[in-house]
Amino acid sequence: MDFIFRLLCALTVSVSLQSTVSAASRRTEDSSNVWEKRIRTSLNLLQRRPCWGLSEQAECHDRAIFSNPDTQKMRLYTAAGPKKVRVVLPDRKQRRLAHHSSRNNSYDAVFVIDPFPEASFGHLVFLFLVSYDVNETTCNKTLNGAYIFTDRSECIRRAEKFHCRNRVTTRQVKCEINFIPMVYYKDDSVKARRLRCRQKLINLRFATCPALENFPTRCSDNKPRCDNRGISKPDRYCSHKRCNHAVLVSGGWNSFASRQRYRRRLHNVWALLHSTMRYRKQFIRTFLGQGQKRELAKDQIEKTYVVDRTTKVRQYISNLCRSILCVETLTLYLTGPANSDGALMFWDRDQVGITDESKLYTPKQLLDDIRNCSARRVFLIADYSYSGAMINRLRNRISRHPDQFRNIMAISSTDWGEYAGRNNFTDVFIEKNKEGPVTKSVIQVFKDVKRDLRGSLSTPQIVTAPSSSFINITLDGYESNKSREAAKDFHPCKLIPRTDLPSSLPEK
Ligand SMILES: *[C@@H]1O[C@H](CO)[C@@H](O)[C@H](O)[C@H]1NC(C)=O
Ligand SMILES: *[C@@H]1O[C@H](CO)[C@@H](O)[C@H](O)[C@H]1NC(C)=O
Ligand SMILES: *[C@@H]1O[C@H](CO)[C@@H](O)[C@H](O)[C@H]1NC(C)=O
Ligand SMILES: *[C@@H]1O[C@H](CO)[C@@H](O)[C@H](O)[C@H]1NC(C)=O
Ligand SMILES: *[C@@H]1O[C@H](CO)[C@@H](O)[C@H](O)[C@H]1NC(C)=O
Ligand SMILES: *[C@@H]1O[C@H](CO)[C@@H](O)[C@H](O)[C@H]1NC(C)=O
Ligand SMILES: *[C@@H]1O[C@H](CO)[C@@H](O)[C@H](O)[C@H]1NC(C)=O
Repeated sequence: MDFIFRLLCALTVSVSLQSTVSAASRRTEDSSNVWEKRIRTSLNLLQRRPCWGLSEQAECHDRAIFSNPDTQKMRLYTAAGPKKVRVVLPDRKQRRLAHHSSRNNSYDAVFVIDPFPEASFGHLVFLFLVSYDVNETTCNKTLNGAYIFTDRSECIRRAEKFHCRNRVTTRQVKCEINFIPMVYYKDDSVKARRLRCRQKLINLRFATCPALENFPTRCSDNKPRCDNRGISKPDRYCSHKRCNHAVLVSGGWNSFASRQRYRRRLHNVWALLHSTMRYRKQFIRTFLGQGQKRELAKDQIEKTYVVDRTTKVRQYISNLCRSILCVETLTLYLTGPANSDGALMFWDRDQVGITDESKLYTPKQLLDDIRNCSARRVFLIADYSYSGAMINRLRNRISRHPDQFRNIMAISSTDWGEYAGRNNFTDVFIEKNKEGPVTKSVIQVFKDVKRDLRGSLSTPQIVTAPSSSFINITLDGYESNKSREAAKDFHPCKLIPRTDLPSSLPEK
């Protein structure tokens, strides 16, 4: 009797416990009250103690961001149960985000505050992890978190990156959380996205939520179903004319990181090269790492390829650089989301939220593709976050192997630790190329751009091989300081003098 009574009691207790838990979960899922409390607590703490919640060794830059926070300029993303959520950041493998977390990074709720919603990714974001039913002592002392009571005990922790610290001391890499993570329910095999943008809680207001970009997954460079018509290879050998060529590339990553502005830039750069600099249409190739071609120039689309991995882009660029006598000036333009190593990121096509070789175009790969390039000159223009990291690497390479990079000039929109996109580097670069009564050298354009962007978040960088003989040359290989009228007659292709042809011709 006594036993049955106790069993009944236990059953009743467990049933009522379960029902309160699930009721609470349901409430939490969409209760703006609870979110308001979590976010106010975190913002207040950040305002008083900018490095709150970080371990002692962590980088704590950007102390000023929350000193006088205007939430309407920040974007908010939230996700919460009924189930635990898993949080994944784009790294080569999944990493721990807080002390005392498992590698799986499962939490009861998460939220992200993006203080620079207009900037390109990567850029600093603040990621918070919420665990339920943790008592105040454990939260304060063990988890280094902030305790709040909603209708239960909650502990809010700030996520940080642990694994990149060793690299920071030896190389210039920012160790910060710089992407919106992928968040899905634990055990959800299709990994449906749970993070959503919120513009309004109870009293708190945030920046407006953007339209999310999408990638038509059935479209890829190696599937003929897509209207790609195959990527024709550049000639291996030219015996008649040497022409100007250009390759324009944009990355994508995911719907949070992709931007319509990348396609607008590809369009505008294409127009500059074709209309002002007279590059031939068939010699300007565009590689889109992020879907829709709609925003591109009408004539551009024909030579545009939707790619969801870097292989085809790399092949095309290195083929151009290995061709014989075909390329006079080669202009490479790169934009899109990037990681803090300066690698451009392509679409996360298998939606695992983690990067791998095929999704990254790293500075090392890029420089491998263009070293010893057979083009007479190479202009490399990079407008993405941390693009200065690529410039630094090139500077290093030039000092170690000047002979491999003697014909290159590279320009980036940012220094290595800076974010792109708040300024309009590409637009200004285009404008400066067209401006004034006489033609402008690329170096002069760079100086003008830098002057115009003074005071913005990022500082354009330049590197030129010391031996380069084209310091005063324009983007199409013409002389600078000539009248624009005269420049109109300049041809982007040059006849190859007989004396330049090798005595034994390679097989065509
Ligand atoms: C982490 O996830 C994997 C795969 O989902 C699972 O096998 C493992 O048990 C999990 N580990 C923990 C500590 O939850
Ligand atoms: C808080 O939780 C920890 C771990 O669960 C436990 O050891 C500790 O006794 C609890 N403290 C209080 C004050 O309840
Ligand atoms: C936890 O930390 C808060 C804020 O520092 C403090 O007010 C509170 O007394 C602490 N509680 C415990 C149990 O340590
Ligand atoms: C690059 O060119 C240099 C000098 O012409 C040559 O010594 C070197 O072997 C070349 N390297 C590669 C990888 O082609
Ligand atoms: C770049 O942005 C600045 C400030 O927003 C604006 O004044 C300028 O006109 C823009 N330049 C171009 C070429 O779009
Ligand atoms: C480029 O022009 C500058 C003047 O603006 C001149 O001093 C310099 O010698 C020129 N460089 C070359 C390589 O012609
Ligand atoms: C070209 O013109 C600019 C300004 O008009 C002048 O500063 C520069 O020295 C000139 N460069 C050459 C090579 O004449």
